[in-house]
Amino acid sequence: MSILTRRRLLRRAALSATATAGAGLSAATGAGGLIAATGALAAGCDTPKGGDPSGDPTAERVRFPHDFGWGAATSAYQIEGAAKEDGRGESVWDTFSHTPGRTRNGDTGDVAADHYHRWADDLDLMRDLGLRSYRFSISWPRIQADGTGKPNQRGLDFYKRVIDGLHERGIAPMVTLFHWDLPQALQDDGGWENRDTAHRFADYADAVYRGIGDQVPVWLTINEPKTVVQNGYLWGHHAPGRQDADAAYLVAHHLQLAHGLAVRALRATGYDTRIGPALNLHPCYPADDSPAAASAATLHDGYENRLYLDSILTGAYPADVLADLGPDSRMVKGIRDGDLAVIASPVDLLAVQYYTPLYLTGNGNTVTRWPTSEADWQQIYPQGMYDTLTRVTRDYGPIPITVTENGLPCPDTLGPDGTVDDPGRIAFLRDHLAAAHRAIADGVPLESYHVWSLLDNFEWAEGYEQRWGLIYVDYPTQRRVLKRSAHWYRQVIRDNGL
Ligand code: FCB
Repeated sequence: MSILTRRRLLRRAALSATATAGAGLSAATGAGGLIAATGALAAGCDTPKGGDPSGDPTAERVRFPHDFGWGAATSAYQIEGAAKEDGRGESVWDTFSHTPGRTRNGDTGDVAADHYHRWADDLDLMRDLGLRSYRFSISWPRIQADGTGKPNQRGLDFYKRVIDGLHERGIAPMVTLFHWDLPQALQDDGGWENRDTAHRFADYADAVYRGIGDQVPVWLTINEPKTVVQNGYLWGHHAPGRQDADAAYLVAHHLQLAHGLAVRALRATGYDTRIGPALNLHPCYPADDSPAAASAATLHDGYENRLYLDSILTGAYPADVLADLGPDSRMVKGIRDGDLAVIASPVDLLAVQYYTPLYLTGNGNTVTRWPTSEADWQQIYPQGMYDTLTRVTRDYGPIPITVTENGLPCPDTLGPDGTVDDPGRIAFLRDHLAAAHRAIADGVPLESYHVWSLLDNFEWAEGYEQRWGLIYVDYPTQRRVLKRSAHWYRQVIRDNGL
């Protein structure tokens, strides 16, 4: 299958035909599939349920390991705002969001949730929720306006304040080095198509480590390299807005290389802190029982998951993906001797982000099997959380895992009584946490879980229309309101379980 054909075929499930629910569930059949289906249907935002959303009171309570890291996640461009303050340079997302037609309603991250100014209050809210872990990202252009050179002390100081503030409140910081906001100046030099960007990233990482590194117990390198590859370079609905399949997979290689170089840079500091990649994994199931669907699902799994997992955890790119790309592809030609050894530099943990499964037909199309959320690419399927976590442990061994993103967008509104009622989100989180708990019971070394997201925020091309937060943000006033799901999550944390 040529890569350009793949680009057409890979379009999100929402663009493909909806399959008849219940037909030929293949890998998803069996008791697990049926249980998950019940949960999934209950999880739709528009199906508010009465009563106690925590479910049947006679059911056995689910308890997590005693030191489980209950958390929530955000990223810099999505919440900070203060786009021009304290020496911050421009990122590809500033450029992209300011380009007419690129984001819903022309929304930008200029102000976002104004977290740059409200960080202390936001940290108080986290403490109020009882969070034990907070995952956020550092804005590269705050540290290096043009992506190179001496770090901007004002940028480092902001993150130092946040990190100190978290420690003071008993919350462990988990920091992502790169959540998509590449300095525009580096994009002008070719961005991730330019191998040199991987080295610039390592320099940036080193500057951040030297500034604040020993205060951060867990570092994550690159958030969802696959999303940069697919959304940024295959389909073009994310920055930098390219549609070039051959470039996309060269970008994948350079992102992997950048990851490995940043791991090595941390080791070189001698700090005793941990580091790993943050990968969004999509379980790929055949949509029917045909051999063609099975092989389409296998190849798709290669592009979605193994391309990233195998290279980091086994030191080799998957042979089926390399063969499918072909020897003349820019990616295959761009792999140099020694690159895989860098990419496979030992990591301490793996961050997994789970949102949706994918179902493949024999001709390589994706079909929709479960109810979707407001994000049309998301099918609600809690069993996919279990399948993803157990698969990683089965295929790659007992590497510690943290779930760094999982969540649901809902059409949340501020009620007349000043509350925000989001039972669909509660059902979604409960069902996914139950699936994660089953994975732990079956031997997965899962140490923490982070809801996406702490706050409503700038959801990339969807602007502010999709609300993913536990905490409602009233954008005109920037007032924060804990949604019902936030109150529910606080109780889950108190109970250490469901
Ligand atoms: C993930 C991104 C995160 C957010 C959620 C909904 O892919 O990492 O920034 O957009 O999706």
